[in-house]
Amino acid sequence: MKLTSIGWDAFKALSLKDKAACMVEDGRDRHVLFAQQYTRARLEALGALATQIRFAAKTKSGSDFLKDLLADKRAMLYFTQPSTRTFLSFSGACQITGMGTGDVRDSTTSSEFKGESLEDSVRTFSSYFDCIVMRTREQGLAERMAWVLSNSERPVPIVNAGSGKDQHPTQALLDIYTLQRSFKGQGGIDGKRMVFVGDLKRGRTVRSLASLLTRYDGVRMVFVAPPSLQVEKDVLDELDAAGVTYDLTDDFEAAIPEADAIYMTRVQDEWDREKGESARIDVSAFWFQKQHLRLLKPDAILMHPLPRRNEISPEVDHDPRAMYWRQMRNGMWIRAALMACLFQRDQDVRAYGEKMGTG
Ligand code: NCD
Repeated sequence: MKLTSIGWDAFKALSLKDKAACMVEDGRDRHVLFAQQYTRARLEALGALATQIRFAAKTKSGSDFLKDLLADKRAMLYFTQPSTRTFLSFSGACQITGMGTGDVRDSTTSSEFKGESLEDSVRTFSSYFDCIVMRTREQGLAERMAWVLSNSERPVPIVNAGSGKDQHPTQALLDIYTLQRSFKGQGGIDGKRMVFVGDLKRGRTVRSLASLLTRYDGVRMVFVAPPSLQVEKDVLDELDAAGVTYDLTDDFEAAIPEADAIYMTRVQDEWDREKGESARIDVSAFWFQKQHLRLLKPDAILMHPLPRRNEISPEVDHDPRAMYWRQMRNGMWIRAALMACLFQRDQDVRAYGEKMGTG
C-alpha cells in the first residue's frame, strides 16, 4: 500500500505493522517513521554501510568522497522538542555527507506562532529542502506530515527523530548498530539477553529497540522497573506476536549477572500528568553503580541513549564495558548511512568501500 493511494483517516486507522509497510517501497524507505519498517536484512545492510562510511571518514580522500555524496541535497532539521545529541548527530551526518541544513528549534520563532498550521509549515520546508528530520512532542505528528507530503507535489521524505512517547526509530537503528559491533566476535545479536532498565513505560527508545530486536533469533528480553514504570502492553503484545521470551521484574541486581547488554534509561518526567509525580517514585535501586561492575559478565556491554541523570555513576565510564559514548558516536554513522540510502546513493558508498578494500 502506498501513502498516495490511501486517505488520511483510513491510514490513521491501520495497525502499526500495516502503517510501517506503507513507508517502504521496493525495499527502500519513502519515510523513516517506525522501527517496524526494518527487516533484519535491511538492519544488516545499514550497519555495513555505516561501517563503510566510518572507515571512509578516517582519511582525507574518503572524507572528500563523502562530502560529495549528497552535496546536491539539503535537510531541514525541525526539532521543537529539546535535543542535543540527536540534533547534533543529524547535523554531523549531514556535514559528513555534504548536505546543507536549515533548522527550526523553537516553534515560537517560526510562523506557527502566527497561527500557521504545521501542515503549511512542512510544505514550506519541502519547497526549500529535500528531506525533513523532525522531533516533536506530539505522538503521530510525523505520520500526519509524511502523509501530507506524500500527497503533495514535493513528496520529500520525513525522518522521525523522536515522536511523543511512542517512537524513536533512528535511536533504535544506532542501538542495533552498537549491538552488531559489540557482539561481532560473539555470534552477533542472536541468542543474547537484553536487559532494559528504568522508565520503560514512557521511554520511546525502549519501545523502538525492543521492536527491532524481534528481528533476531532467540533474543531474550528482561524489563527491570518499578511497577509504576513498567513496560506497556503494546510492547509486550508485539513480543508475544513475534514469539519472543521476556521477563518483567523489579530486581535489578538479580538481572545484572545474566545480561549480555544492559540498556539504562532515565525517568521521563516531562510526561508527568501532575508536577512531582515521578519524584515520588524511588528509582535509586535501578541505578548502575560502581559495585555492580563485578556482577557484570566480562563481555557484556552497558548502554544508555543519554542524557543520563543518576542511572549510571560516572565512576563506571572508564570500564571497557561502558558503551554509551561509542553508542552515541555510532548514531552519526548510522544516520549518515540512512541519508545515503534515502537518496539512493548507498551503492556509491559500497563501490567506494570495495575500491578501497573496506567493502
Ligand atoms: C532519548 C529521547 O529523546 O527519547 N534521547 C535521545 O534521543 N538520545 C532518551 C531520553 O531523552 O531519555
